[in-house]
Amino acid sequence: MYHHPDLMPFTPRERPSMRAAASNMIENWPPQAYRDEYAIMRGVWPILPRTLLLTDPSVIEEILIARPEKFRRDLFQTRALSNIVNRQSLFFAEGADWRWQRRAASPAFRHDKLRALTPTFVKCAESLVSEWRQAPRDAIFDVAPAMSRVTFDIILTAVLGPGAQDLDRNKFLAAINPSLSTIAWRFLYARIGAPRFLPFPGSGRVAESVHWLHRAISGLVAQRRVSGIDADDILSLLLSAQDPETGRVMNDEELISNLYTFMIAGHETSATALAWTLWLLAHDQTSQQRLRDEVEFVVGKHDITVENINNLTFTRQTLQESMRLFPPAIGVGRAPIEDIKIGPHHLRAGELAIIAGWCVHRHEKLWDHPHGFDPDRFSPERTKSRHRCAYLPFGAGPRICIGMNFAMLEMTVILAILVRSFRFSILPGHRIELATNLTLRAKNGLPLKIEPA
Ligand code: HEM
Repeated sequence: MYHHPDLMPFTPRERPSMRAAASNMIENWPPQAYRDEYAIMRGVWPILPRTLLLTDPSVIEEILIARPEKFRRDLFQTRALSNIVNRQSLFFAEGADWRWQRRAASPAFRHDKLRALTPTFVKCAESLVSEWRQAPRDAIFDVAPAMSRVTFDIILTAVLGPGAQDLDRNKFLAAINPSLSTIAWRFLYARIGAPRFLPFPGSGRVAESVHWLHRAISGLVAQRRVSGIDADDILSLLLSAQDPETGRVMNDEELISNLYTFMIAGHETSATALAWTLWLLAHDQTSQQRLRDEVEFVVGKHDITVENINNLTFTRQTLQESMRLFPPAIGVGRAPIEDIKIGPHHLRAGELAIIAGWCVHRHEKLWDHPHGFDPDRFSPERTKSRHRCAYLPFGAGPRICIGMNFAMLEMTVILAILVRSFRFSILPGHRIELATNLTLRAKNGLPLKIEPA
């Protein structure tokens, strides 16, 4: 078990602060959320209302798995995220609308499709390895943007196939940044009922870049419709999807929204998880060497194959433990569609309940030494007796992340290749400060020293 104060980089606040609400909102989740079955985040009345934080796995199970039809995504999270993960997409659809979109997209995440993507995962990771090999000895790299570039290349190939080269990758990544880094502001404004036109720091740049992104993706859809190419990618799948019950197909707005959603939800999350994993391994050299030994034993010097992946057990456990400590999504929000009683809670229709993944994952009653790093927590023996809602990086129930298997496969391949090739170490004195953007990021990046292994 590895311990370091940076693994819990802030002290939970008894009294919420507006500064934290606009930058690192989990700092406002009170200490009780790490030891009780639920907690109320106090309001800074009349500005910030009280918020219910759920941490009891059996209550969470009831909401996400047993009675999901009684809940919908809450309006606050929807307003905060919906300029970047688009409103008409699978991510935000509800009821029958959601069911058909989920059915339409599911074939892209079937096992055979994911297996077929393995060479793309290898190629994109190896291209970063070549880039880093050119660097001088003891070079320092911020691994957060580097992971975003690799996972973005992968998702572009999965979504657009041959059309991937028509998109300006750097411009796209730069254009999503203003929206990603202002999510805490939009959530805060939604919570206090501020009008949408009220500016916040960076809102002008957000509007401009969202406009550019929309145009870029509409262009790609129009191009594919004209060319009539039937490629083996997610765009072609969505273009040909038809609801067997109603005969409905996706209109352009839904197509654009879903492409957008996959391109963003499909790379930013895995990039975040990978960056935190490298940072944790840079702290814990013993686990880093154990992972390297595993890759050398299972794969040797060859390219990783699909058959290898199952045997990379410690690599996978390391990713799982990393997403426990630093879950890319800090929690999911739900609101009941009617007044309802769940466990000890009487919730009114539309009231926000946050399933506080960050706190569940560090809860005193659910984990020994909750702030310590120990990939062996995810060994099969130790996982067996754990409640299925004590660990929720991908959510649970019918709305569980559709890209979960995609992400686990992709991250296992990338992590194995990087750790086989390089040794990562921390920069002494570099302190991290968390930022709750679309995913849980470090405000000043995650710079690491990188040398050949
Ligand atoms: C480490 C990587 C990832 C993490 C931690 C993650 C996490 C999540 C979480 C927490 C949810 C919300 C579940 C809920 O509201 O109950 C979600 C939903 C979703 N994710 Fe992921 N995700 C990851 C990778 C991906 C990838 C690779 C894709 C696509 C290629 C993707 C696409 C989606 C979509 C479309 C939804 C909405 C599903 C629905 O509402 O039916 N995610 N993800």
